[in-house]
Amino acid sequence: MTNIEQKAVNPLAVRISDLSVAYGSNTVLNGIDLDVAKGQVLCLIGRSGCGKSTLLRTMNGLAKANSGSIDILGRRMDKDTNFDDLRTSVGMVFQSYNLFPHMRVIDNVAVGPRKVLKRSKQEARDIARKQLEHVGLAEKADHWPSQLSGGQQQRVAIARSLAMNPQLLLLDEVTAALDPETVGSVLAVIRGLAKDGMTMVLVTHEMSFAYEVSDLVAYLEGGKVIEIGSAKELLTQPNDDRTRKFLTRTLPAAAIPPLEVPK
Ligand SMILES: Nc1ncnc2c1ncn2[C@@H]1O[C@H](COP(=O)(O)OP(=O)(O)OP(=O)(O)O)[C@@H](O)[C@H]1O
Ligand SMILES: [Mg+2]
Repeated sequence: MTNIEQKAVNPLAVRISDLSVAYGSNTVLNGIDLDVAKGQVLCLIGRSGCGKSTLLRTMNGLAKANSGSIDILGRRMDKDTNFDDLRTSVGMVFQSYNLFPHMRVIDNVAVGPRKVLKRSKQEARDIARKQLEHVGLAEKADHWPSQLSGGQQQRVAIARSLAMNPQLLLLDEVTAALDPETVGSVLAVIRGLAKDGMTMVLVTHEMSFAYEVSDLVAYLEGGKVIEIGSAKELLTQPNDDRTRKFLTRTLPAAAIPPLEVPK
């Protein structure tokens, strides 16, 4: 069995069935079915406005389903769901990293373990140091966020999520706001997480990165999953004309080889 096949038989981290989401009269997601097994990396692709962020946000309760069901880490999301609890096991990182400007880097990462997980001050700082090391920023622990580059701040935001020991990580275009030269360091962190078996659902416009890091890629259009398959199949031999059309327009970017990553 290949590594990809092996992950596919793991228990499910995400099961979405016939999910619909509407904002007023605007139906944004319309009958989505999606399974992600533990350890898998799923990448959502599609045109601007097709509902990628909304779909990601349903997985931690930031967007509400109108119908259908969402099971996350074996639990059905419903009116009794404790979203604070859910969000300790489902981390989310956005394009805008939103660090607290008045807190040093280490405290930005330690605040979750301290306040939410109720760890002691020392334990929380130890966790934070470990995660800052994980993203290659141990030496920036005592800096202020404003003293860091965009890429470094985004890596702190990832460390902040990891400090909560999430079982599922949702990443929404985390490199979109970065200078090209700092993108590589953030992608390297995500690549490392994928290798370590972190379950992730990510939205990216970096097709070459999606190809490299994902087990599965889903193409969304008109509020539906048009096609889902292995990264290799979907990105190089899509079955559906709509997927092919989308890729033909975006693939020149995919021809760029993945960036070399500074250690
Ligand atoms: N909070 C909201 N209230 C009302 N409409 C919303 C809200 N969030 C998203 N939408 C609408 O839902 C649709 C899908 O938006 P979404 O942000 O999920 O798209 P996307 O695929 O992530 O796009 P992009 O690639 O530009 O980030 C859009 O038409 C958007 O205007
Ligand atoms: Mg979006």
